[in-house]
This record gives sequence, structure tokens and C-alpha cells, in this order.
Amino acid sequence: MKTIGLLTSGGDAPGMNAAIRSVVRTSIYNNARIIGIKQGYNGLLNGEMEEMKLSSVADIIHRGGTMLLSARCDEFKTEEGLSKALNIISVFGIDGLVILGGDGTFRGAKNLHNGGVPVVCIPCTIDNDMGYTDYTIGFMTAVETAVDAIGKIRDTSTSHGRANIVEVMGRGCGDIALYSGIAGGAESIIVPEVDFDIDEVCKRVIQGKNRGKLHHIIALAEGVGNAYEVAEEIEEKTGTETRVTILGHIQRGGSPTVFDRIMASKMGNKAVELLLEGKSGRALGTKCNKIIDVDLDEALNTEREFDIELYNIGKILSI
Ligand code: F6P
Repeated sequence: MKTIGLLTSGGDAPGMNAAIRSVVRTSIYNNARIIGIKQGYNGLLNGEMEEMKLSSVADIIHRGGTMLLSARCDEFKTEEGLSKALNIISVFGIDGLVILGGDGTFRGAKNLHNGGVPVVCIPCTIDNDMGYTDYTIGFMTAVETAVDAIGKIRDTSTSHGRANIVEVMGRGCGDIALYSGIAGGAESIIVPEVDFDIDEVCKRVIQGKNRGKLHHIIALAEGVGNAYEVAEEIEEKTGTETRVTILGHIQRGGSPTVFDRIMASKMGNKAVELLLEGKSGRALGTKCNKIIDVDLDEALNTEREFDIELYNIGKILSI
């Protein structure tokens, strides 16, 4: 393995830059050339590449986003797109790839692996929605952002005696809502993994009011449905003014937490080591605080287990 390619694809996640830094520096330490590919699979198809030096990744460990830029690429999902990519990889003399992203990105990586290109993937998505790993890079930073917002919204919720729904990202996964809801002291947490009963939420709003609570924060995962409809129903059934804040892409940016930087540094290093050992079709992850690597098929097919115990703790703590 003399030349390693590196790309970030799909939704960006804080910590991607720290992982890029780790991959670049570990490659150079091991006398391998490292080629940065811009804009994910898009840039691969367009041959947008440049060799990276130690200095290319200076001053990025603390920055959100991805210096390699990212994109979602439909052409790469087609057979023609894949064969074009395989051809470009061979023309540029790339011997293996480190690929950063979420499950859609991993599916693309699997196709490259099947086409004979050694690949190792690093899970980077704020959603924390990949079942084979305890953690995906970017998640804790997104949760910190959501908790910060919940704290601010609680101030105004109290001043006005309102209920406030804070909608967070996560696609079909409720982890951002669960973690930020618990850490932010939300009164209700609504996630797609657990059927929710609007009357139960309303009961909590009324009980809180009766106990003299002025605020009521509802952490709601985007995968649940329309936050405005939920707000309307709460308002109708409880008589409590209810407002909605959709946090949106603010959760995708910002300086990565220490935990994300450390995870990214470890996984970036391990990804290069695996390629240099001749491994391919592997996905990095973490289980019980240890870095693991599993087959890409396992990574793509392991169903995510929702932490129902934590959810139940949240219910008890918010009475
Ligand atoms: O997968 C990360 C994520 O931020 C999800 O939480 C969200 O549903 C989606 O991406 C938004 O995608 P886009 O940035 O393409 O609008």
C-alpha cells in the first residue's frame, strides 16, 4: 500500500477534520502517500484530488465541517458511476481508501470493496444510528449544541410559562433527543423508537403546572413527525401556550468536543493501520470503550438497539 485516498461523504459531522488529520499524519508517518479527494464520491468521479502534506492538516483538529468538503452523490450509486470511479482510482494509482461518513457512505464503500479496491470506513454522523458501533463521530458535539439550546429555551419557557418543543435531528434515530433531553433536563422526550401518547405528554404539562413548574421542555426527535402538529395538540388539550424550535443544521457544525476529537484521532490512525496490514471491507467502531473493526456487511446489517433503560431513567428524572 503506497498511496491511500481519503474522502468524506454524506452529511458532515464535527470531528471529521480531526479524523482527516489523523489519517493524513498516520499515512505520512508510515511513508505512504495520501491523496485528499474533494466532495466525497462526487469528487472521486470528477478526479478532484490533491496530495496532502503534514501541513495540509495543520490547524483543523478543532474545526467543524470537513476540509475535504462533502456531498451526496446519485451518480455513484449507478453501475456506470461505480465503474467510472474504479477506473479513476486506478488511473490515479490509489491503492486503498479511507472513507468517512454514515450508512449511505458505507454502502458506496462496500461497492468499491466488491470492485476490488481496499477500503476502511470510519463512522461519522451526528445521528449515532449505526447498530454495530456504540458511537459515531460527531454525536456528542451535536448533543452539546442541543443541550446548550435547551438551556436557553428553558429561560424563556420559564418567563412565559410555556411549553417549548425543541426538535432535534437524527433521521430515524432518537439518540440526539434522548441524550440532549436527559442532559438538558427536559420534561418529556419523544423519539421514534418508542410509541408516544400525546395524552401522557399533556398530563405531564398539567402536572408540572400544578406543581408550580413554569417551564416545560419537550425534546422531540425529527423522526417522530411534525412538531407543529404536536404543539397544536398540546396547546388545545392543556391550554398552555406551546412554541416550537427546530434546531436544524446548527447541530451539524461547531468545534468538536474532546470526545469526538479523541475518537476521530484513534479511528483515523486505526484505519490506516488496517489498510497497511492489507485489510479491506472493514468498518471501524467502538464497543465498551475499545476500538473495533467489523466486516462492512455486519456494519450495514446490524440493527440499532435503542437504549430503553436510559429512556426510562429520563422518564423517572423528569417527574
Ligand atoms: O444524517 C445527518 C443529518 O443531519 C440528519 O440528522 C438529517 O435528517 C439529515 O442529515 C439532513 O440532511 P441534509 O443536510 O442533506 O438536509
